Amino acid sequence: DFLLSLSVKDRRQYHRTSGSVPLDDIPVWTPAAGGSEPNRYPRNEKLDQKISLYSGDITKLEIDAIVNAANNSLLGGGGVDGAIHRAAGPLLKKECASLHGCETGEAKITCGYGLPAKYVIHTVGPIAQGGVGETERKALRSCYKNSMETATENAARSVAFPCISTGIYGYPPEQAVHEALATVREFLDAHHDKLDRVIFCVFLPTDKELYLQTLPLYFPAGDTPKSDS
Ligand code: APR
Repeated sequence: DFLLSLSVKDRRQYHRTSGSVPLDDIPVWTPAAGGSEPNRYPRNEKLDQKISLYSGDITKLEIDAIVNAANNSLLGGGGVDGAIHRAAGPLLKKECASLHGCETGEAKITCGYGLPAKYVIHTVGPIAQGGVGETERKALRSCYKNSMETATENAARSVAFPCISTGIYGYPPEQAVHEALATVREFLDAHHDKLDRVIFCVFLPTDKELYLQTLPLYFPAGDTPKSDS
């Protein structure tokens, strides 16, 4: 409660790691007009300035909430889960232990402790080693939707997502990106007043390329100029 009561500036003395990235240093992603595939959603100018694509370590982001790709126990693991627990310090695991786990597709919030982020929103993605069916698709969308809902319930206005389930849990990234972007687009269409920024935090160069190619389909630029007939 003490840490949550502090301003961003006052919390800096409690960061356990250096090199934090303030929200203002995370550029807004602007769609480049045009592109090969047809857009899947019409342009919504209310969503301009709301999306960022950030390539790097999510534990460095000094924003309201970072999302953790956790497991059902919520007691830590490898990948981004391990990185977040290492940077946050032991109190994170202590609070997680009090939450008694998390169902796949659900989201639970804790303090960020030694992280520059105020909160951590823990969500558990589907394990997709055996291939992706409707169950896995729905569970992955729930991770994104429930994480954004949890953020808005706690007045967190900037949220960063890692590429949930696409590492150890084996969800093909080129399929996961569509579930992630469609869910965020639909949530922002309905609740754009509740969030200032949704950041897709990619860690692998392949994911950066994938998001650069796919974002314009879900957050299209202005209408393609009408050809004067
Ligand atoms: N910052 C941002 N993204 C990261 C970081 C980091 N520091 N470290 C890894 N990633 C990326 C990975 O490159 C991958 O794209 O996070 C994405 C998710 O990969 P995992 O962390 O393996 O998560 P997931 O596939 O959802 O598997 C969850 O792994 O760590 C365990 O406890 C966790 O059992 C759970 C399982």
